[in-house]
Amino acid sequence: DKTVNYIKNSNKDIVIKTPYFDVNLGKNNISKFVSINGFDIKSEKLKYSEISNLDGIIVNIPRIKDGVKEVTFLKNNKFKLNNLIDIYYIKDNNKIELLETGVDTTNGVTFKLTKDEKNNVYTKYIFVYVPIKDFNFNFESIELNKNCTKQLEVTFIPENCTDKDIVYNLEDKEICEISKDNVLKAKKVGEYKINTKIKNINKSFNLKINEVAENIKVNKKSISLFIGQTTTIIASVLPKNAINNELEYISSDDKIVTINEIGKVVSKKVGKCEIEIKTKIEPIVSVKIPITINEKTAVSSNNVSGLTYIKGILVVNKKYGIPSSYNPGANKVALDSYNKLKNDAKVAGFNINILSGFRSYNTQSQIYSNYVKQYGQAVTDTFSAKPGYSEHQTGLAFDVGSISNSYGDTPSGKWLANNCYKYGYIIRYPKNKQGITGYKYEPWHIRYVGVVTATKIFNSGLCLEEFLGI
Ligand code: DAL
Ligand code: ZN
Repeated sequence: DKTVNYIKNSNKDIVIKTPYFDVNLGKNNISKFVSINGFDIKSEKLKYSEISNLDGIIVNIPRIKDGVKEVTFLKNNKFKLNNLIDIYYIKDNNKIELLETGVDTTNGVTFKLTKDEKNNVYTKYIFVYVPIKDFNFNFESIELNKNCTKQLEVTFIPENCTDKDIVYNLEDKEICEISKDNVLKAKKVGEYKINTKIKNINKSFNLKINEVAENIKVNKKSISLFIGQTTTIIASVLPKNAINNELEYISSDDKIVTINEIGKVVSKKVGKCEIEIKTKIEPIVSVKIPITINEKTAVSSNNVSGLTYIKGILVVNKKYGIPSSYNPGANKVALDSYNKLKNDAKVAGFNINILSGFRSYNTQSQIYSNYVKQYGQAVTDTFSAKPGYSEHQTGLAFDVGSISNSYGDTPSGKWLANNCYKYGYIIRYPKNKQGITGYKYEPWHIRYVGVVTATKIFNSGLCLEEFLGI
């Protein structure tokens, strides 16, 4: 009793050293019945049918009545195991029983001693290492979307082998991550051959990782329409080579607006709702566009000595003209703002000069009649205003950059289209609006309406007539 107490109080593990291995009996379960003699170890070809011909070591533990419930076999020079092992115990009738499988021996071997019905601890244990003969992936190739994971199915021969740690040789660590239990996470787009091995058995498989949608680019951030109007949202997935690049369009309220599979929005009733655009297949990426449907404004025009103002904006188009006597010259506010635009354009690398500014009634008259002589009236009316109907006569419109149909596709023309609203200008005759404005696309003709209105018009995607509901 004194010895046992001394050992317990010393707070040290009791380690029994044998020629082959060290056994750690721990510190709390020591009783005076522990025998420290009789540990024995043998390495031999095993005869038991379940594990015949495997290499194993048989460990004899002296009969222990109570006390020790768990033992740890520590590694030393003679006892070296660097694999997973299966542990069996031998019953009194000399039959074996599996105790634990796949025990990691990195830090020695710990296992619980097993008892029979009479509460006697079994004394013979077998450590078996089952070598691998072969292994196969249950597929030749796999295809995965970026950031997705997949459990790799593997067959081991024999099934109970204890070498199951596959080594993956990745030519580039960024390609994927593979966990210890063979779960692969795809990380880098491309097609690869993945080489693997266990011991000296080499296997490989093909891995294809697809690009996936990260976001959706849309041509409108918000939409404002009048009842009866339609517009089209142009949306595309980024990056462009994403496998899930098909989009679906959903209206949060079909009574207010409907949207079809190519993004055509039709207004139905006054109200606010949202259009959601999202990828059809996973990973789901989506973007929402708020949409407002307004009542068609009654045209509240006030005709100041022959000028038509609608919502405070001087309107000049084929329907609303200006008197021949109206001769204000270039508008100072508009011109100052244009000069800021010109300077900022210069900083961005573009020369955006005025090519035609204020034009009096007489000037417009000459221009128009020259075109009629050259092209005939019908053609002229598609690109030149009759005298008294040109915005140039207001002093608020300028032709800038380059008078060329392709100007809108040039970096300078694009900069102008995307930035002029910041200076209070709109592209007055946009593409595809000829049916409404009455004029062909003029990427060079800018019209001053003030920053607040220009910004609203820019974000709406509408032309001036649509915006004003006239
Ligand atoms: N080119 C525009 C329509 C004008 O003549 O005013
Ligand atoms: Zn013009």
